[in-house]
Amino acid sequence: MINTVFIPPNPKKIHKDMPKCNLHTHLEGSVRPETFLALADKQKVKLPFNKNQILDFIQVSGVEKTLVDYLNKIMINYQVLKDYQALKQVAYEAAEDAHKDGVIYIELRAGPLTHSHDDLSIEACIEAMLDGLQEAQTKFGIITGLILSGLRNHETNKNIILAKIAKKYQDKGVVGFDLAGDEVGYSAELHQEAFTIIRDSDLGITVHAGEAAGYENVQYAINNLNASRIGHGVKSIESKSTMELIKERKILLEICPTSNIHTGTVESIESHPVKEFFDSGIEISIGDDDPITSRTKVSNELTLLLNTFGFSNNELLKIQLSSVDHSFLKDDLIKHQLKEKIQEFEQFF
Ligand code: HPA
Ligand code: ZN
Repeated sequence: MINTVFIPPNPKKIHKDMPKCNLHTHLEGSVRPETFLALADKQKVKLPFNKNQILDFIQVSGVEKTLVDYLNKIMINYQVLKDYQALKQVAYEAAEDAHKDGVIYIELRAGPLTHSHDDLSIEACIEAMLDGLQEAQTKFGIITGLILSGLRNHETNKNIILAKIAKKYQDKGVVGFDLAGDEVGYSAELHQEAFTIIRDSDLGITVHAGEAAGYENVQYAINNLNASRIGHGVKSIESKSTMELIKERKILLEICPTSNIHTGTVESIESHPVKEFFDSGIEISIGDDDPITSRTKVSNELTLLLNTFGFSNNELLKIQLSSVDHSFLKDDLIKHQLKEKIQEFEQFF
């Protein structure tokens, strides 16, 4: 019933220690079920369900048909992401889970406006997440960065404020700015000014586009919002000129195959254009989008590439190198070290 397992019975395996990068993963879809319950308990959040039904509420069940259905699942987690400690813990655990999966570089993204309130400023939300990531970095050695997501449904002015705050944190662990949320209901034009503010900074720009709506949104994000990376961008496959634009501007597509099934972006995993993008020379990264919501992790997504799309292990390594090249890291030495770790692995194939 739950359409999440796409791996055949005797799958080819990726090497368990292959160094991996995750450029596209949301804090709000990374809340471990046990953490959700513990936080709900501590914060005295009244849950409309029984504790043993938790997975039905926070993970895909197979009935979701659209991005909005999927986002509604993620939103259940908002109830417990309301204080410094919770945000720090969930950011820390997201990085810990990634480390356990062999991820050496993670850019975790989150929408602080959703979690701030009268007693918790936007800045406090950002600092909580940065503190969690820093703690994981110190403990596990995983390199981390935080991307702030403006949500499409938020007021224009609020995202402008968020963009200004993001700039204040550009030397403190915030590496990029994103636009996420309901792509069908809210145009990116509403938020153009926020991206103009970011353009004049050291922050990287990525935009969710061409996921629930068409390739026109990918073109808009590149031409008007100055995006150097696109979240998903799957619908670009329907437009030759968009594909050309992506190649010409050296834009990276952040592909998350399993999530694309759960949001109805593609009809079946076999019809996903990930191999067409790669073979046409477009650079891609492979992320898990919302690992707990979608019951996945980067190693699963790469295993899927190996088995369903005929990628070779060497091609998977090339994807990791593209991910470092297009990462929002500013430190060239760290970039170099990450690439060396990945290249060392070429000897295994
Ligand atoms: N698209 C837009 N917003 C999101 C997504 C997504 O796939 N996941 C979490 N927030
Ligand atoms: Zn996403």
